[in-house]
Amino acid sequence: MKIIVVLIVLTGCAMPAYAADIENGDELHFEHCTGCHDSVVYTRENRNVHTYQRLGTQVRFCKDSLGLTWFDDEVEDVIEFLNRKYYHFEN
Ligand code: HEC
Repeated sequence: MKIIVVLIVLTGCAMPAYAADIENGDELHFEHCTGCHDSVVYTRENRNVHTYQRLGTQVRFCKDSLGLTWFDDEVEDVIEFLNRKYYHFEN
């Protein structure tokens, strides 16, 4: 039993401090972000966002204008979700 606990702690340390939780991003996005625009806004021909950095700026802008108080982790989750699903920027 002790060995298992030690292993969990060790592998936990070897992982990056934080990896984005895409599923959480999906849920947050579904709950808060689909009121004004559906996903077409992310895939349309003349979309505004052309870099990963710009995606972050836009997500924060929309989030702030909604008065949502998300933790940085949650913002990252949504950015990662949108990038994996729609934008596909290298970062
Ligand atoms: C109050 C309405 C509203 C809500 C709710 C909203 N947005 Fe937006 N969003 C906009 C508007 C307006 C635009 C600009 C659309 C345009 O350029 O035609 C936009 C554009 C965007 C774009 C850029 C699309 C592109 O052109 O590439 C992203 C990304 C985005 N929103 C993310 C989010 C996220 C994430 C949330 C949830 C936190 C959210 N939005 C919620 C109004 C909203």
